Amino acid sequence: MASNSLSPCRRGKGPAAEGSGKGEGDARLKVPRAFLDLAQTVILHSDSQRFALLYTLLATDPRRIEDRADPLVRRLELMAKAVRRDIHKMRAFVRFRELVDEGGPRFIAWFEPEHHIVRANARFFVERFANMRWSILTPEVSLHWDGTTLSEGPAASRGDAPADDPVEAVWKTYYAAIFNPARLKTGAMLKEMPRKYWKNMPETALVKELVAGARARETAMVETARHSVGGNVQGAWEALRDEAAACTRCPLYAPATQTVFGEGPLDADMMLVGEQPGDQEDLAGRAFVGPAGQMLDRALDAAGIDRGKLYITNAVKHFKFEPRGKRRIHARPDAGEITACRWWYAQEVALVRPKLVVALGATAARQITGKAATISRLRGQKLALPDGATGWVTVHPSYLLRLPDAEAAAQAYRDFVADLRGARALLDGAMPLARNDPQADVSALTPVL
Ligand code: URA
Repeated sequence: MASNSLSPCRRGKGPAAEGSGKGEGDARLKVPRAFLDLAQTVILHSDSQRFALLYTLLATDPRRIEDRADPLVRRLELMAKAVRRDIHKMRAFVRFRELVDEGGPRFIAWFEPEHHIVRANARFFVERFANMRWSILTPEVSLHWDGTTLSEGPAASRGDAPADDPVEAVWKTYYAAIFNPARLKTGAMLKEMPRKYWKNMPETALVKELVAGARARETAMVETARHSVGGNVQGAWEALRDEAAACTRCPLYAPATQTVFGEGPLDADMMLVGEQPGDQEDLAGRAFVGPAGQMLDRALDAAGIDRGKLYITNAVKHFKFEPRGKRRIHARPDAGEITACRWWYAQEVALVRPKLVVALGATAARQITGKAATISRLRGQKLALPDGATGWVTVHPSYLLRLPDAEAAAQAYRDFVADLRGARALLDGAMPLARNDPQADVSALTPVL
């Protein structure tokens, strides 16, 4: 079988992985392991400049790779990301059509990758379809598996693959069964499954019909997970988190390292909603672990609230930033980005069903109420949220970190702790929750969603 791992340098001849060069007079260039990992993916990109870009990094200082704000590193990382997506697309969208030849059934697929990823995917298809005889034809190369050996053939054209599809009905049944309403966002669906792949995928004929019924199915899925006997809230949440990891609903996913999803007990009474992950959260993949998180922890402690009992999430799940030199400077999510991320927040609320949702700052307040309003307008009021929970709005902990005046900062901190105590009092029953309180209606605010 052809190997699907390409080595960017030969041992002992080219640059060596860091730590592998030994002894005096060893002229080998040391390269961080991360460079090799990145290069291995980037060389599969279709951009003709890929080698020049990698070489530039190598020739200047490969340790630059540790600087995520370095424009060259960022460009290479985006290229690697595009390659990984293309690898994933091939795995997801290859559709075999069955023929019968003298050796029995044979499955042929036509696929047009954007990058040079066909060989890198060979192992996946061999393992997945080990017992079938198959060929994958592409404009660059063809792969053939006879059940024991993988061989490579020349480039092919679409006409070389059969057009009709005897297993089409099977694909359609399968697709209708696994159709995930979480992908309903049509823009996101088109990004994930661009139309150019549709012509090779029989099940796409079903998309219109499935989309029409998807809203109802989405609600039913979450309800079932929550309430059915043996309903698997944990499983549903994990599926949601995994789905969010591949979110492309707005452009923020591209430069961010990863989606930072919410976390905490799924039966939490209180949900805390921040604005968006910061630099450290983006790297760690967890909400509120950086300086704002430390401030929050301190205030929660002072208010007598156990962080371990909260479900903590963000209004927007990707880090938005502007690169400045080596630093990534926080940038505020805009209205479109908040709206795009609302789907994830709404699903988290539907699964966790918190009694109380505490919004930290204006972005979170907008997300939980679906309305535009200032903190000063909402702060310290019980709000009847559209999803049935009670809302409570306070400032964002990073606001406290930004106050230059020590006296003002100390006062703002005391007010923040008092707000958190207020939230606790609501839950402890010292104050009624908003559902019974006609004053708490948010419907008078200007709707934004
Ligand atoms: N600020 C937020 O709003 N959320 C985080 O997770 C970190 C900082």
